[in-house]
Amino acid sequence: MKIKVKNLDETKKMAQAFASLIDKKGLFVTLTGDIGAGKTQFIRYILEYLNVKDKVTSPSFVILNEYKSELCPIYHFDLYRLEEKGLKSIISELREYSKEGYLTFIEWAEFAHDEIPKNAFKINVLYDEDDVDIRWFEFIENNNNKEFIENLSKRL
Ligand SMILES: Nc1ncnc2c1ncn2[C@@H]1O[C@H](COP(=O)(O)OP(=O)(O)OP(=O)(O)O)[C@@H](O)[C@H]1O
Ligand SMILES: [Mg+2]
Repeated sequence: MKIKVKNLDETKKMAQAFASLIDKKGLFVTLTGDIGAGKTQFIRYILEYLNVKDKVTSPSFVILNEYKSELCPIYHFDLYRLEEKGLKSIISELREYSKEGYLTFIEWAEFAHDEIPKNAFKINVLYDEDDVDIRWFEFIENNNNKEFIENLSKRL
């Protein structure tokens, strides 16, 4: 499912709808796509909806942030500055936080190569080819998230 987003307000509405569907089982979400297209902003709005009080940074040097919420532990990876060697250093965390009971976001999941679990909920965020103000959020369907995406489309 591809959703067109024209401004931050629309990103916020979409993030709220997305967050409202997450339960205690958590979710393992990967975000790929264009640089600066709005991945961090989307995550920030989800965490805001989930009442996370900590400041959500767009980490330049931090690869992994942890946030607390009533729902479940939340982890936010940004792999943009991860070197090849660095991937090895976070593999155990990636595996652990892909289990049920964690809500995990991976920005720049491109850099994790085959270490992304098969059941990941993949989101690709791109700029529109003609209009830089427009961004596209593509929610990629798999066997686990069909119902989630159906419900998301109903709430948008
Ligand atoms: N839908 C939108 N409409 C307008 N501006 C947006 C939108 N989404 C994000 N922005 C703005 O674009 C800038 C980059 O957003 P953000 O940091 O979320 O992108 P990103 O995909 O995480 O970037 P990076 O690839 O560096 O991780 C920010 O200033 C943000 O406020
Ligand atoms: Mg970012």
